[in-house]
Amino acid sequence: MAQAQIGIIGGSGLYKMDALKDVEEVRVDTPFGSPSDALILGTLEGTRVAFLARHGRNHTLLPSELPFRANIYAMKSLGVEYLISASAVGSLKEEAKPLDMVVPDQFIDRTKNRISTFFGSGIVAHIAFGDPVCKNLAGVVADAVASLELPDVTLHRGGTYVCMEGPAFSTKAESNLYRSWGATIIGMTNLPEAKLAREAEIAYATLALVTDYDCWHPDHDSVTVEMVIANLQRNAVNAQKAIQETVGRISQNPPASDAHSALKYAILTPLD
Ligand code: ADE
Repeated sequence: MAQAQIGIIGGSGLYKMDALKDVEEVRVDTPFGSPSDALILGTLEGTRVAFLARHGRNHTLLPSELPFRANIYAMKSLGVEYLISASAVGSLKEEAKPLDMVVPDQFIDRTKNRISTFFGSGIVAHIAFGDPVCKNLAGVVADAVASLELPDVTLHRGGTYVCMEGPAFSTKAESNLYRSWGATIIGMTNLPEAKLAREAEIAYATLALVTDYDCWHPDHDSVTVEMVIANLQRNAVNAQKAIQETVGRISQNPPASDAHSALKYAILTPLD
């Protein structure tokens, strides 16, 4: 089986990475069914990476329909140790404006219908999740973005990502509730990925690309797909630059990660 040290999951608007060289398309079969699409293996900054379009390359999967376990299992089976998740999000704070990038360090779970564990069926484990993203990997992502000095893009280091079920966007009451909790951004996909990556002992970090102000903002009224798409096209180019720079930095100096030994004290069921 082909191998890659770094995985990239591209969300809405990021369906491929133009800079990949020596590309190979790999269909991975997993005990949890097929991933969202074939994984695209390629060389970026001298390192083999595996790219997956989270919603499929033609955007055919709703957030609630995503095969999260198959996606993370496929990354693990290719040897992925670092997973970068590029994801479109709404902003819950005035200062995080459309086109900005946020590297969150916390999540709030508002999903209702997701399987976010590989455990069960006789094996009980509880991974530590107080720090749901790998701090060191998130630091590399943020430093990479900062080094690019992208015009019109402010980088926000840290912040809380609310993961909602969707597919409808939030009501104003919900959006204001999340604001009152101090949350920074909102999306529909990253929390199950972060949990499963941790169980798979893969370091995970999110590069969140702000597309809209959700519906709380007095000047923006409500979020529409048109608004999201327009900004997505603008920040997909920035996202690819940021990912390329991040991959270069990881391959030069792979960050240590507690995630790589996450199961050491997590499994309760005797396995011998
Ligand atoms: N993805 C992009 N914008 C979003 C929003 N406002 N709410 C949830 N997910 C989103």
